[in-house]
Amino acid sequence: MISVVVPTYNEAENLSELLERLDRALAGRSYEVVVVDDGSPDGTAEVARRLAGRYPVRVLVREGRRGLSSAVVEGARAAGGDVVVVMDADLQHPPELVPKLAEAAGRGCLAVASRYVKGGGVEGWPWHRRLVSRGAVLLARILLPEARAVRDAVSGFFAYRRECVANVKPTGLYKILLDVLVQCKPRCVVEVPYLFGLRTRGRSKLGTRHIADYLRQVLALARWRPLKFAAVGASGIGVALAVIHLTSFLPKPVSVALAIETSLTSNYLLNRRWTFANRRTPLLAGWAKYHVATAVGNGVNYATTLILHLLGVWIYAAYVVGVAAGYVANYVTSELMVFIDKNTVNQENCEDTSARMRTHRQVPPRGPLS
Ligand code: GDD
Ligand code: MN
Repeated sequence: MISVVVPTYNEAENLSELLERLDRALAGRSYEVVVVDDGSPDGTAEVARRLAGRYPVRVLVREGRRGLSSAVVEGARAAGGDVVVVMDADLQHPPELVPKLAEAAGRGCLAVASRYVKGGGVEGWPWHRRLVSRGAVLLARILLPEARAVRDAVSGFFAYRRECVANVKPTGLYKILLDVLVQCKPRCVVEVPYLFGLRTRGRSKLGTRHIADYLRQVLALARWRPLKFAAVGASGIGVALAVIHLTSFLPKPVSVALAIETSLTSNYLLNRRWTFANRRTPLLAGWAKYHVATAVGNGVNYATTLILHLLGVWIYAAYVVGVAAGYVANYVTSELMVFIDKNTVNQENCEDTSARMRTHRQVPPRGPLS
């Protein structure tokens, strides 16, 4: 049996079309719909109970609003199928996709309806909404290796084994798929493209407080690694200043080099043992790579510290400015050497290009970095 879990808050107007379309899409299959309502004032639960005469619907009512994620988990606990399909009630998730998702989940895979694979998309979103959504996905992909398994890790439309979804502990209010990815560790995933439509009835429940909640959730799932990394970096400054102090009898170029190497190594060891404790990084190979990853910044830090010191700046202050300069250098080299803008005009073709630009587009010529 397929259990479709639908969290609802003020969706009375959408239920009848949702259930009708689900029933048509799942014709000939055994299924149930579990509506999990958080005491909607618009009477969603009563409407659902009324429709239960016509469709296989069960209604779970929780008192007080407690969030989409925990509603999904409670729905999965109450469900009777081996597979649960999780979807919104407002028809932004097309019910016609449910059989395909359930079929993939039946094979043991996590099936995700995705806006960000070929053939998928969003309808009528302004650029800033797209940007926030893309930013959210990108952040999850950088911080959570598990989120890299799918393109749309924040989708609210997916299917998986019931028993696993039922045992998830929600870490946020509404991105339950992230919890499923991290806590269930599915052995295979299938992404099915879909068009996230516009809501025609009722209103979205997501607001700005959900952005803060999302950041907190991603950080928590990442076990606070970015904060640990920053704390380690701060400890590294302390280590370096101590080394400069203890080696003050040495010439400054040697003392500063020792300070940078010592803090690099203490940062590396702390990150290996603490920030990235679960990654099993080989000690020496990781140490070598850490040198490469921090080379430009450390070189600039070294040069800046010594130059400022030569100019008469107190060595400890010079070192702190050096660290800041190293940070800026890392940014600039990333921008100009790693994440290159392929559209900048090449010097040799400058004449040609600008001439063409002037005749055809009336745009002033542009230099390589302007
Ligand atoms: N039980 C319960 N409790 N349900 C809730 C709550 C709650 O606190 N908040 C929202 N819901 C229900 C809504 O009634 C709807 O059925 C569904 O959860 C999604 O809420 P919307 O308010 O329509 O969210 P959205 O359209 O902005 O975003 C949705 O789609 C995104 C793209 O797939 C959410 O599902 C997001 O999680 C998802 O990323
Ligand atoms: Mn919606």
